[in-house]
Amino acid sequence: MNFKYVSKNIDDTLTLAENIESEKFPNMVICLDGELGSGKTVFVKGFAKALGIEDNITSPTFNIIKEYPNGELPLYHMDVYRLDEVDNDIGIKDYYKKGGVTIIEWSEIIKNKLPKERLEIVFKIVDENTRILLFNPIGQEYVDLCETVL
Ligand SMILES: Nc1ncnc2c1ncn2[C@@H]1O[C@H](COP(=O)(O)OP(=O)(O)OP(=O)(O)O)[C@@H](O)[C@H]1O
Ligand SMILES: [Mg+2]
Repeated sequence: MNFKYVSKNIDDTLTLAENIESEKFPNMVICLDGELGSGKTVFVKGFAKALGIEDNITSPTFNIIKEYPNGELPLYHMDVYRLDEVDNDIGIKDYYKKGGVTIIEWSEIIKNKLPKERLEIVFKIVDENTRILLFNPIGQEYVDLCETVL
């Protein structure tokens, strides 16, 4: 089953991320895709704030993975946009089982390294402030989460 959410402004995206955070569980994996500037990092900021992480979240474009250990659960924020397809085995899969929440921007680049069960969210730009978010939950835990939150 697929779910859809229309975000009318940045606060809608932040609030949605907070609502998803409230249903978090250890080893949760969220995959974010969609064009440049569509709101993926905004979503991560909202999620991190809800976890109680006070650090400023910036895209980990050059180091690929940033770890934030100080929230209710650890957060592993990945942005694999610049990851070289042939050289992409940097231990990504190890993060899925470390007990925290992994959020991956541009996840389709590492499609073959994603866990079987995950929440996929595709962001589409409608206009300056409007985004459509399409949810594809894979696995019962993620279906339940979408039914609760959306
Ligand atoms: N409804 C909305 N939700 C999220 N961001 C929005 C919304 N409306 C406008 N914006 C703006 O869109 C931009 C989203 O930037 P963000 O860095 O989150 O994009 P991104 O998808 O992570 O891009 P990249 O692929 O470059 O990492 C911000 O400037 C934000 O203010
Ligand atoms: Mg980003």
